[in-house]
Amino acid sequence: MSDIVYLNGEFLPRERAKVSIDDRSFLFGDAVYEVLRAIRGRYFEPERHLARLAAGIRALELPDPAALGMDPMAAAGELLHRNALLEGEATVYIQVSRGAAPRRHAFPPPGTAPTVLVTVTPFAPRVEQRARGVAAILQPDVRWQRCDVKAVNLLPNVLANQRAAVRGAYEAILARGLTITEGTHTNVFAVVDNVIRTHPNGPWILPGITREVVLELAAGEGLAAREHPLDVEDLARATEVFLTGTTTDVMPVTAVDGTAVGAGRPGPVTSRLGELLQARLDAL
Ligand code: PDD
Repeated sequence: MSDIVYLNGEFLPRERAKVSIDDRSFLFGDAVYEVLRAIRGRYFEPERHLARLAAGIRALELPDPAALGMDPMAAAGELLHRNALLEGEATVYIQVSRGAAPRRHAFPPPGTAPTVLVTVTPFAPRVEQRARGVAAILQPDVRWQRCDVKAVNLLPNVLANQRAAVRGAYEAILARGLTITEGTHTNVFAVVDNVIRTHPNGPWILPGITREVVLELAAGEGLAAREHPLDVEDLARATEVFLTGTTTDVMPVTAVDGTAVGAGRPGPVTSRLGELLQARLDAL
């Protein structure tokens, strides 16, 4: 946790940054967020993260912070500086809520100011887990049909990830019926019949930035990759399974529900894509 945060145009010590009990993010989960990686003060793929945030703001018809002169990325830069995080690694968290207003389900009156929060946190890449691989469990995907919006309404993700945690697993891989969608905070890939596969973008998954970059890296290596849904049987016979995400990088999954994936250790495709992503991060 870092000491100075940004809230609605102000830089404040974390303990002085307070949000109204009437804030719609608190009452309804009525907000979107973003998580970016900062390395030595440089951001990984900031344009793509900001485009996704803007798409979420549009999709939920949230007030745009820019209209009030607020610039979350300028705030992030200032926060990295004030919290002495310009060396090493950090994550940047941005949240935009529909603001504070008397509780009713419909939107508050036009002109209600959004609540804009930006925080930065020191980050340690999961080097050890990436080298050895992690366990995952399968859980039913009980989320809504707009998983493409990065909304703070994350109860299904929280509950599924907690089930993973109590079983000593890193992630819960979600299945909508028999279709593998994504993880609670990661996208899911598998190598099936020598082809890398992942669920196509659309309402059932978050369009992960790491996912997109990994698909580009695979194409650059001449590796066969398809954005085509995987089902639970594909996952069971996959020779490699891996997760991608801003705080996860390329993470080998070596067991699902206690059964080994392939040889039970990180496979060559996963390792290669992990190296290529790391090279991109190192080059920032
Ligand atoms: N989670 N899918 C879901 C449901 C996610 O929440 C995330 C990111 C991803 C990966 O997206 P990206 O590669 O753009 O980080 C996929 C963030 C890190 C979080 O909630 O903390």
